[in-house]
Amino acid sequence: MKKIGVLTSGGDSQGMNAYLCALTKLLSENYEVVGIREGFSGIFSEDFVKLTPQVLKDKEFLGGSFLKTSRCDRLKTTEGLKTAAEILKNNKIECLVVNGGNGSFKGAAELSDFGVNVLCVPGTIDNDLFYSDLSLGFDTAVCNAVSVIDKVKQTMQANSRGLVVEVMGRHCGKIALNCAISVNANAVVLNEDKNSLTEVFNLIEQAILSGEESPVVVLQENILNGEDLAQELSKKFNKTFKFEKLGYVQRGGSPSVQDRILANILAHKTAELINNSTFNLAIGVKNSKPICVPLNLALTEQINFDYELYNLFLKKFK
Ligand code: F6P
Repeated sequence: MKKIGVLTSGGDSQGMNAYLCALTKLLSENYEVVGIREGFSGIFSEDFVKLTPQVLKDKEFLGGSFLKTSRCDRLKTTEGLKTAAEILKNNKIECLVVNGGNGSFKGAAELSDFGVNVLCVPGTIDNDLFYSDLSLGFDTAVCNAVSVIDKVKQTMQANSRGLVVEVMGRHCGKIALNCAISVNANAVVLNEDKNSLTEVFNLIEQAILSGEESPVVVLQENILNGEDLAQELSKKFNKTFKFEKLGYVQRGGSPSVQDRILANILAHKTAELINNSTFNLAIGVKNSKPICVPLNLALTEQINFDYELYNLFLKKFK
């Protein structure tokens, strides 16, 4: 039986286990599915586990990653790439399936230059891979964030306080925008609009003038210090603004319906490509349909931020 290796890499995301289970079910009749533990690091330690539907029973709806994950520095070196390629070859791995974000895709693409057949599948809550509309975990992360912000808003409202709430996304504002729309925030600060910070003060002023006692600002991480922003807003509007950083609660919990469906779509496309011996592609979805693109294209730094949706959010205040 030919062997297919699979690993999860980078930040874990909800839906990784659902994908793993769906893929294993689809492949296990004709292939041996080899799970590689702790991302690319597990290649070096040959930390492999044979995956079967029985081994993965009841794991599909768990958050985190059954295989564990890591960010692997050794794979960033030529020595690491060469060694990893040799180990995979010695273990007769026909294709390596990598579920992760753009750092993981980069590692996979470099491994393919050393003769390893790879397929990449988007698994990151940030949803920052431009070629695919969605990545595993994004929808669940937004749902998690929204349910926490809804709760925090209630206590802010009881005290007539404003709120600055920081969400994840690394350098991508999609989580922030979707949260801002869903919680009816008054302003959002994100990477894709350099003016968004300067607009915050105007938007909050408008909100207060129109009677809002507890304005909400959603802040994408890695832009500025949320505590400082809350203090500045408190001073300017003579009202207490609290700062809340949501953190890892966004990345935990079982996958949403959308992420479960996405996991199945991605697994079917992966199995189809493997059955046809078509490799070195990145799999994704466009308009809910599976797609695949060459790896180098998937890695180009293009932006697919939904400016129409963002304008819709801003128009609310015009
Ligand atoms: O890339 C996913 C992500 O959750 C980002 O949103 C966040 O900035 C980062 O990972 C956190 O990484 P770590 O788990 O290494 O702290």
